[in-house]
Parts: sequence; C-alpha cells; structure tokens
Amino acid sequence: MKYNQMRNVDLKKELKKQGLKGHSSLRKAQLIEYLSTGIHPLKNTETPSPIAESEMHDTSKGIGYSPTLLKGTTENLPINQILSGGCLKILSSFPDGVFDCCITDPPFNMSKKKGLGWAFSSHVTMQEQWDIFSKDDYFQFSVNWIREVLRVLKTNGNLFIFGSFHCIFTIGFILQNMFDRRIISQIVWYKPNAQPNITCRMFTESTEFIIWAVNNESKKAKNWTFNYETVKAMNSGKQMRNMWEIPLTPRSEKKHGKHPSQKPVAVVNRIILAGTNEGDLILDPFSGSGTTAVVAEQHNRKWVMIEKDETYNQIAQMRIDELSNTLFEKNSTKEIISRNEISCRSYVG
Ligand SMILES: C[S@@+](CC[C@H](N)C(=O)[O-])C[C@H]1O[C@@H](n2cnc3c(N)ncnc32)[C@H](O)[C@@H]1O
Repeated sequence: MKYNQMRNVDLKKELKKQGLKGHSSLRKAQLIEYLSTGIHPLKNTETPSPIAESEMHDTSKGIGYSPTLLKGTTENLPINQILSGGCLKILSSFPDGVFDCCITDPPFNMSKKKGLGWAFSSHVTMQEQWDIFSKDDYFQFSVNWIREVLRVLKTNGNLFIFGSFHCIFTIGFILQNMFDRRIISQIVWYKPNAQPNITCRMFTESTEFIIWAVNNESKKAKNWTFNYETVKAMNSGKQMRNMWEIPLTPRSEKKHGKHPSQKPVAVVNRIILAGTNEGDLILDPFSGSGTTAVVAEQHNRKWVMIEKDETYNQIAQMRIDELSNTLFEKNSTKEIISRNEISCRSYVG
C-alpha cells in the first residue's frame, strides 16, 4: 500500500473512532478538514456553514444590513458599502464566485488580556478583545472564514491574507493542506521603524507577512491577475521583490480616529495595483478602518467591506468620504501611486 493511501486509511479510522460518518468518498484534504472541524465538508457546501458560537466573540447583530441569501450575480451585492456585523453571517448571504479578489487582515490572535507597556513611550502592545482566542477556537474560526471567502471568490481569484508569526502558519496550513489552494508568494513587509521590544528577551518583531494565494486547487490554478509591468514601473523599472520596506502607518492616515492595527495605504496600494484590475470587485471581511476600501476607491476598483465594530466603521466611512473631497482626479493614477508610495518613504527611521 502506498504511503498516501495508508494515510487516508488512518484518517478514516480516526473519523470512525470519533463517530463521524459519511467519509467514504472524501478526498484526503476533506478528510483532514472533517477530522479537525467535525463538520462534514460536503454537507457544509450545500448549506451555509453554521455560525460558530456567537461568531467567536461577535456579539454585534449588525446594523444597516440584514443578510438574506443573495442569489445569482453581483447585481444584488452591496457594492461600495461597509457592512456592519460578523463576517461569517454576512458572507453566508453572498452567492458563490462573485468577488475578483479578497484582501484581508484578520485577527492575529496575538493580543494579551493586558498589553505590555514601558516608561519611555505611550506604546502598549495589542490588548484587543476581538483578537483573543484559545488555540482551538482560533483554528476553527480561521477555517470557517477562509472556507466562506473561498466560496464567494471567483475561481482563480486572488486572495491576500495578512499575518504575523502568531497566525501565519495556521492560515498557511489551512489554505495549503485543508483546501489545497495554490500559494503564489509570501510577501514580507519589513517595518524599519517598528516598536522596540519591551521584554529584551527576543529579537525586535519588525515584520508581517502577506500570503498571496489563488482560489483553485494547487495543480489547477491558472490565469491569476499579476500586473507585472505596473509594479515594475513602481519599483524604478526593476522587478518588484517580495520584501517590502514600508514604515508603520503614518499619523496622517489616522486623522479620523485610531485603529490598533491599521495597515499603511502604501502596503495595500502595492497589493491592489499588483493583484487587481480597474472595475474589479474586492472583498475585505475584516475591514477595520477601511484601508482596503480607501485604496480601492483611489484606483477605480469596487469593494465590499465587513467589520463588526461600529466605531471602526465610522472611521472607515470618514476616510472614504474624505476621498471625494480631495484633489485626486479620477484619472491621475500616476499621481496617486507616487503619492501613496512617497508616504512610505517619509518616515524618521
Ligand atoms: C487586524 S484588524 C483589520 C485592520 C484593517 N486592515 C485596517 O487597515 O484598519 C481586524 C478587524 O477585524 C474585526 N473583526 C474581528 N472579528 C470579526 C468578525 N467575526 N467579523 C467582522 N469583523 C471582525 C476587528 O474588529 C478588527 O477591526
């Protein structure tokens, strides 16, 4: 018996032991998914996935949008709107395969109940309730939202997910092993002005990662969007590498209010220009202060944002509203690109 077959038999044995039925026709990735979630993968695609207990912390019922299953095309989608509520519930109301791209920055599960601070600065490490999970809950939560995102993304659509070492391996495992999605690249975002390490017991954390995956089985993925020439031009005519040196979000991008993990426009700018085209529809199910929408608007992409915290939604709305009052001309893409790129070079290192 081949090693691969033997592993399948073991998985089936394990499922049987746990009283989980109906696995005879499942593929290996589905067996692993069934084992780790207890939810039958095929039954799960027929009915919207059950919402995890209070959507893992999500107490908000969502205002301004009441999900009813939207059928058919993008026609009925809430385009260029921020939806307030838990993403699992809202995603389950969307039809299959309607988004061209998903760019998202989920909870990293890195917060402590009480963040660390020190005398020399006002900086305190992350202590957000929405970012605290047990290891098992985090895994389950990630499986649930990634499954829904893959369902609503078009086949071969791009998926960009932010993460730090706290979560990126879990997310990578889910994409590669459970859903067999093609990983194209891992971008390393290097923050030259990252906060110093408070404990002095480890290296100063100064990177985040962005997994770029394509929504198709790894061997079948094809024709994904990559605007090679655009990003090359942004990099003074040289091929863009996957290590991006971009400082922390500047104060000028936080004038409508603070979000504890707001991403710099400059990082999202590169992602959107590299991985989407004008008119594309972009999803962000963890929109926070709406950085994905802000950059999408600047480049004539359509968007749908989901965020459960109403305060963050207000910040996002103000950022988006401000765009229509700025001097940006709809067709001066060059100016926007260089402006967004420049903001990332003008830090004090
Ligand atoms: C890392 S932050 C995103 C920050 C964003 N990229 C920005 O630039 O502002 C993650 C966001 O997900 C939100 N969130 C957490 N769980 C959620 C859920 N189940 N549904 C929707 N939003 C959720 C949090 O409130 C938080 O604002």
